[in-house]
Amino acid sequence: MALILLLAMAVSLFTACSDDDGAPPEGAFPADFLWGAAVAGFQVDMGCPTLDASQCLDTGSDWYVWVTDPQLIAEDGNHLSGDPLSYSPGHWELYETDYDLAAGNLGLKAFRTSIEWSRIFPESTVGLEGHDELTAVANMDAVAHYRAMFEAMRARGLEPYVTLHHYTLPRWMHDAVGCHLDLDGCSPRGWLDRETIVREIAKYAGFVAAELGDVVDQWITQNEPFAVILGGYLLPSEDRTNPPGVAMAFEEVRQVATAMIEAHARMYDAVWAADVGDADGDGEAAQVGLVFSVVPTQPMDPAKELDVLAAENVLYLYNLAFLNGVILGDLDEDLDGVAEHREDLAGRMDWLGVNYYSVVVVEGRSYAVLPDLSELATFDPFTFRLDWDAPSGIYEALVLVRDRYPDLPMIITENGFGDAEDTEGARKFLVEHLTWVSRAIQDGVDCRGYFYWSLMDNYEWNHGFAMRFGLYGVDPLDPAKERTVRPIAQDYARIVAGNRIPADLREAYQSGGRSR
Ligand code: BGC
Repeated sequence: MALILLLAMAVSLFTACSDDDGAPPEGAFPADFLWGAAVAGFQVDMGCPTLDASQCLDTGSDWYVWVTDPQLIAEDGNHLSGDPLSYSPGHWELYETDYDLAAGNLGLKAFRTSIEWSRIFPESTVGLEGHDELTAVANMDAVAHYRAMFEAMRARGLEPYVTLHHYTLPRWMHDAVGCHLDLDGCSPRGWLDRETIVREIAKYAGFVAAELGDVVDQWITQNEPFAVILGGYLLPSEDRTNPPGVAMAFEEVRQVATAMIEAHARMYDAVWAADVGDADGDGEAAQVGLVFSVVPTQPMDPAKELDVLAAENVLYLYNLAFLNGVILGDLDEDLDGVAEHREDLAGRMDWLGVNYYSVVVVEGRSYAVLPDLSELATFDPFTFRLDWDAPSGIYEALVLVRDRYPDLPMIITENGFGDAEDTEGARKFLVEHLTWVSRAIQDGVDCRGYFYWSLMDNYEWNHGFAMRFGLYGVDPLDPAKERTVRPIAQDYARIVAGNRIPADLREAYQSGGRSR
């Protein structure tokens, strides 16, 4: 009897830890799964409690201009909050506090942030060559500050994941106001100065990798390039406006997409060439990825052929056209579905960062509604609906990348809930999304980690402080910028500690069946 009991216990213990094929059961994660949190420099660094503004405030980026220029704020259509950047949580000063929370309180093993190009090179690098010439114009205090940040992460067991371009460009590379007012006549034109920007951003990437490669191994060339295009040149909306905030600039959409794809490849090469320091001792000095907001699409009415076709076309135009370029080197410059293979772009992706926030629901038309963009634009932009409450979409996003680009490891580099003060909504969001991530892993997807967006409340681009994503709350008017723990942070810490979603949280919050 005792033997039978023992056997039964052993069997149930085994099935609790692993499925037949060795995958962990639903709601559990592989032993080496990487848990993290993400922020971005522009959104968190400023607003320091005591540091002098000359050190804390970065006035050198196009985004600084975009969110602070009184005329842009006053103008309809830019959807700018007008919140001052002093509202931000002061991470440039309080980074050790934040890493203590991430590592000590949450038990995380990785932290994602971005380096601001404008902090490293406040002045133009055009015409300069080689590390010495670049060093002469670089802000070496900023380089030292970033080094201190990454060392502080490492000291706490946090692996730094470092984004080199998270939306912002230095002002010497992009005149946000000038281009907003006159896209043809402005200068410098940011991503539209294709040759210049591809060359200069690669120089910047190589410089940073040479300076900081001994403390950083995981690099991200760009964050959500399609958001730069969508909110900057195609459909600026309340959701997101990016500088220069111009609508329906079809030719520019194509130019910017091509420039960003080329920039990724050249940044990848530059980082690989310059980073010779193996910071984590795994035998590899660098791993370079790109972060993309993968947006699964759904037909408004699955029974209507035109809606189904439109959903396929949007999937291509918003996701695959860019991903095919950066992952396969298949560049579709005209966005007509026909790509040219370029060997100088191919094979440059060590892992893909997947940001997941929403699915898109589309209604089709029998003709191209935006023919100047693409013959494939058969969707109706006026009924286009972003569905933010679609947890199973994270599963779809992972599966659709896996099916098209097999063997490419993925990490969820962002996923988060924008109304963190809705305590129950945020807790449910976390449990439901992680349940779907665990299902994707069970179904064979190579997803190696999850970074919650965001560690603390921060400056949500055009929304300023109107949206709160933090595991920790920050009152923008509190001069000390104290961090206040939210219940979702406590849930996250329990999930991380057990490497699984605890049963009580699953019972309370997990509603989803296996399909939407
Ligand atoms: C961006 C973040 C942003 C988040 C929430 C992503 O688009 O990478 O910077 O704050 O989504 O909107």
